Amino acid sequence: MSDIGMHPARPGEQALPPGTRQEWEEGATGLAHVVTPGEVDLSHNVILYLEDITVSFDGFKALNALTLAIDAGELRCIIGPNGAGKTTMMDVITGKTRPDSGKAFFGQTLDLTRLNEPQIAHAGIGRKFQKPTVFENHTVFENLELAMKADKRVRRTLFARLDSQARDRIAETLRTIHLDAQADRLAGLLSHGQKQWLEIGMLLVQDPRLLLLDEPVAGMTDDETMRTAELFVSLAGKHSLVVVEHDMAFVERLGGKVTVLHEGSVLAEGDLATVQADQRVIEVYLGR
Ligand SMILES: Nc1ncnc2c1ncn2[C@@H]1O[C@H](COP(=O)(O)OP(=O)(O)OP(=O)(O)O)[C@@H](O)[C@H]1O
Ligand SMILES: [Mg+2]
Repeated sequence: MSDIGMHPARPGEQALPPGTRQEWEEGATGLAHVVTPGEVDLSHNVILYLEDITVSFDGFKALNALTLAIDAGELRCIIGPNGAGKTTMMDVITGKTRPDSGKAFFGQTLDLTRLNEPQIAHAGIGRKFQKPTVFENHTVFENLELAMKADKRVRRTLFARLDSQARDRIAETLRTIHLDAQADRLAGLLSHGQKQWLEIGMLLVQDPRLLLLDEPVAGMTDDETMRTAELFVSLAGKHSLVVVEHDMAFVERLGGKVTVLHEGSVLAEGDLATVQADQRVIEVYLGR
């Protein structure tokens, strides 16, 4: 993974279609006037709203009339058995998978089903996949710098004229992800957990409103897992987070509302103690 050009596409790196901003906006289904960062309409305090989302693969419903609302600033955990549709849900939110039917809104006005992946990333939804994908032959600092430069919003507003402000944001992010002492190390030399934090930092420099994190603590040590929980708790409020995890100690530490998915629908929702006491949840997931 030494060549940046060979690196798999990350949400922030996906370039918008060529042309002026106006051309791009006009080309984007007539809705792009709302695809302006910082303009997500949170007037009802809901940052993400999914209604009756169905996704079928060869007749099998990976999501089955899924309805879910995430409040602005919320830290939500999604749990559920393998194959419940958790990753598919993230694929729908990020535009990777088109639902067969249903609604998906970012804030009040932004219809995610009418936007493509780069447009959704640009609107302020950042996604972290399970496997860390950092540039191993670049330093930690350079990784954050590259992620920032890949974001057209940042390039326009920060790199164009406020280079010191860009550096400040990187320095602040380094502290947030506990890697300030590692800034000049090659990313390839970091521990697995540190690489995961770096990748989260690469999302954070782009200042997403909503962060989607799919099994972020898989493979981490217990200590790294708990530090990651603290990191996510500290990010909530400023950002909204949707975290898919199987690690119940981690979910408990996050302390937020928990949604249990099963067979593509919401089986239960509430605080962890409540869903853990739910007989149906015990049967399909926790009691296994
Ligand atoms: N591209 C695809 N083509 C066919 N089937 C798919 C595809 N993507 C997902 N599925 C199926 O949809 C169902 C839901 O998968 P998904 O990956 O969303 O589950 P998950 O809840 O993330 O599970 P896990 O906890 O194992 O990660 C599974 O049965 C899976 O095999
Ligand atoms: Mg999954």
